[in-house]
Amino acid sequence: METTKVHTPAKNQLWAKKSLEKLMAGDNDGPPDSMNPISQEGTLKRTLNVTNLIALGIGAIIGAGLFVRTAAAAGGHAGPAVTISFAIAAFACALAGLCYAEFASMIPIAGSAYTYSYTTMGEFVAWIIGWDLVLEYALGAATVSIGWSQYLNALLDDFLHFHIPYRWCHSPFQVSDGLGIYAGEAGVQGLVNLPAVFILLMLSLLLIRGTQESAAFNNVIVIVKVSIVLLIIALAWKYINPANHTPFLIPADAGTAKLSTGQIHNYSDPLNHGWLGVLRGAGIVFFAFIGFDAVSTAAQEAKNPQRDMPIGILVSLAICTVLYILFSYVLTGLAPYKEFMGQGGEASVVYAINTYMPGYEWLASLVTVAILAGFSSVILVMLLGQTRVFYTMSKDGLVPSVFSRLHPKFKTPFRSQWLFFAFVSIFAAFVPDSIVGDMTSIGTLFAFVLVCIGIMILRKTDPNIVRPFKTPLYLIVCPLGAAICLAMILSLGWENWTRLIIWMAIGLAIYFGYGRYHSKIRSQE
Ligand code: ALA
Repeated sequence: METTKVHTPAKNQLWAKKSLEKLMAGDNDGPPDSMNPISQEGTLKRTLNVTNLIALGIGAIIGAGLFVRTAAAAGGHAGPAVTISFAIAAFACALAGLCYAEFASMIPIAGSAYTYSYTTMGEFVAWIIGWDLVLEYALGAATVSIGWSQYLNALLDDFLHFHIPYRWCHSPFQVSDGLGIYAGEAGVQGLVNLPAVFILLMLSLLLIRGTQESAAFNNVIVIVKVSIVLLIIALAWKYINPANHTPFLIPADAGTAKLSTGQIHNYSDPLNHGWLGVLRGAGIVFFAFIGFDAVSTAAQEAKNPQRDMPIGILVSLAICTVLYILFSYVLTGLAPYKEFMGQGGEASVVYAINTYMPGYEWLASLVTVAILAGFSSVILVMLLGQTRVFYTMSKDGLVPSVFSRLHPKFKTPFRSQWLFFAFVSIFAAFVPDSIVGDMTSIGTLFAFVLVCIGIMILRKTDPNIVRPFKTPLYLIVCPLGAAICLAMILSLGWENWTRLIIWMAIGLAIYFGYGRYHSKIRSQE
């Protein structure tokens, strides 16, 4: 067992920083490359060009946000104006992306917002971000695995005319409305989402083995995902019913809809119609952009990180934004938005194609297969990101050493992978996707707020650090990025604020009860 020296921290050590020189010299305590199945090489060689980085970004970005959360945002809050929600979320991500790019070029080593903040803003902020990233990565993986379960059912129904009984693929908080493939099962209460746990198990096993073939698999999936989105846009365009786009914003008198949790959704609530609904929609579809920051974690493998990091981040964001706006325009043009609260609430894209595009059943099947594969790659990247961040935090002494123990043969953090499999599975099995999805969004938005503020503070406190890429107009970009992310956080409602506050309170208790006393950086001082 690795032992960690416990000591009593002095007050100012709360802000202790990791040395940038040490990190750049290779002493970064980062995970060995054998842990990274996405990496193409056995060691961290600089092999990724700008195209690879863009592909990496798109691979991590397109997933359940587009194919599941778009319908939830349109159906419940924004209606056809979900296209504007996408534009707002994209704008905020672009601003935060510029800040990420400045960090990534300043510290071009494998890492994440956690590593950046430890070097620049000190341990306490790093802890807050590292703890918060659990919401992004672990709960993000849970959300996508629930989406995977929905589309698996659509596929089974399509090919085998069979579906998993409602209770075995839904959380206890959901009740079947007897619509769609669950006709005849009205009133059945969910129990556990087994398919979601199944895909998490498969991918956790893959990550434990650390197979290198995943790199090629990832590239193929990126091509498949983008092709499917383009195909749907092209083929469905002529089936758009202009009546579904009018009015463009949900009116206050749109009435009610029944949710699968049994609650009544009232469109007259301020966040469920009009412009506030569009903002709430932005908070929800923000999920669809999560992952662009994954590009920054590959900084150490980029050939020319200073130039290519910002391009990789911003171009992958731009491509996804255009695809998302077109796709959501088409989806809300096919079906009336209210149907996405009812019969079209699950596997929404397949529903819309099967119902409103006669003769295109083959497209629905193709889309389902592509979506299942696409979701798998997103879950893989998220589970990988999660154990990678905790590996580094464990090496820093902030979380126990179990998170950095490597498998003797596979050299992967297998115990951490198992622990996170258990943690993520609890959410995937027993919580509805709307709740874990919103928690992922709020957690990531919070990290973005800190990153934007962090860049602004650093310009003042450390003006002399070499910054190969500088956020342009930072006095506008940083506060504006933080403000829009904050507005989206506010739009997510008090239930989500409470969840975020509880999560951060647990984190602070762990930090002041454990991390503070085991921090390696302090014991070196
Ligand atoms: N952006 C990723 C998705 O939409 C998390 O699935």
